[in-house]
Amino acid sequence: MRKSRVHKNEKNPVWQRRVKRRVCRRVLLFTDSTIDDQSLVEYDIACSLVHAVMLRKQRIISASESLKIKNGLNKILNDFKRGKFRLATELEDAHMNVEFQLKKEIGLIAEKLHTARSRNDLIATELRMYCRDAVKKILKVILELQKVLLNQSTKYQDVIIPGYTHLQPAQPILVPFYLASYFYKFQRDFEQLALLNKWVNVSPLGSCAFAGTSIPIDRRFLAKRLGFNKICENALDGVSDRDFLIDVLYYITRLMLHISMLTTDLIIFSTNEFKIVEFDDAVVTGSSIMPQKKNPDVCELLRAKSAKAIGNLTGGLVIIKGITSSYNRDLQELKPILFNQIKECLECLNILMVVLLNTKFKSNEDWQKKPDFICATDLVEFFVKNGYRFRDIYNLIAECIRESNGEIHNFIHLLSCKTKFPHEIITEKMKPEFSVRFKISEGSTGFKNVRQSIKEMKRYMVKNLQRMRDKF
Ligand code: ARG
Repeated sequence: MRKSRVHKNEKNPVWQRRVKRRVCRRVLLFTDSTIDDQSLVEYDIACSLVHAVMLRKQRIISASESLKIKNGLNKILNDFKRGKFRLATELEDAHMNVEFQLKKEIGLIAEKLHTARSRNDLIATELRMYCRDAVKKILKVILELQKVLLNQSTKYQDVIIPGYTHLQPAQPILVPFYLASYFYKFQRDFEQLALLNKWVNVSPLGSCAFAGTSIPIDRRFLAKRLGFNKICENALDGVSDRDFLIDVLYYITRLMLHISMLTTDLIIFSTNEFKIVEFDDAVVTGSSIMPQKKNPDVCELLRAKSAKAIGNLTGGLVIIKGITSSYNRDLQELKPILFNQIKECLECLNILMVVLLNTKFKSNEDWQKKPDFICATDLVEFFVKNGYRFRDIYNLIAECIRESNGEIHNFIHLLSCKTKFPHEIITEKMKPEFSVRFKISEGSTGFKNVRQSIKEMKRYMVKNLQRMRDKF
């Protein structure tokens, strides 16, 4: 057998012997994935540690070889954590860098580590481990965000604001009702992301390049030791499947859309025209020329980040759309997409909490004095409860509004004449407070229901906390 010599400074791709000459530097730089792989080094070493134990258990390597490999890997892990082990571009990726380093640490025995595995199953496994942890982090922050929404709901329990459809004043609502609507959106995000565990937590390790191996490995042992629920059933599917990654990107994008909708509301609500929320100075920015300005830049950036999330998801989908089955190098490009998206999502959730904690909700005073026709639907319901047919009274009120030229006094007079109900009763029923007080249906903005909903939100949070403890 030809003797391989380890040169300390010889950093070439492992497949160098397959080609006649050194690979062009620009090609090395172009194919390099070491920058992204910083996020994977610890997972890579974890996979290798377990692999070394499995190889010994299966008598593929000896106990002393396994021990040497383990010690070497632990040393590399320590060095990495202390910033002493850096990935070299010439070695392509984390997997090859760790192997090269191991060879430097323990000599030729290191060459046994890659027995019965491939970078194809390694990368698929490590990405799953990464997603597992990343989703856990996101779940934790969603829960914190829900706590902020809940606290603000309690704080502004009795504040009534106009609710809108088509951005036109529609019906009065309570602030906690409004905030709860987002609590439930984020609740769905939490639950969907948590459900992904079923698809993420599956081990492809031992699929090798894509066809499996003739060496008697124990895939279930590897999976169990790495905390996976099960192994993937088919090696070819195992190395090529990135559905789990797309699912993570999708549910993050959906979460980001919720953030976009909320921040867009806040941007509009904070304007002088709406005056429904007021941002504390801690979360606004100023203008370089207009001295009077306070701008909601943070919310605007949050909105833009959700656009980027859609771009990331689309990028991921199109990468997969273009490839054949098994491993294709295109898959490498999913890594920066995923890593950046996770980082950005966590950042957005955290900054959104800061914004919400620095947002005051208030009932616009001008609107309180002059709520106009925002309670027209309540008036319809009042007459229905007094024996009118719905469509009949709806038409009558619509006509009165039309004939009143937008003047509430004209309207009340007209309606009173046509229905014979006194002015005072109609005036009373046109008050926003009346509107929210008398909403009784489940899930409505009624005072009673909103109090109920605050209790329910608390229950959801307890469940979520439990779910996080149970293991993602
Ligand atoms: N650097 C590669 C990636 O991130 C690892 C797998 C490489 N496999 C291969 N056959 N070239 O996807």
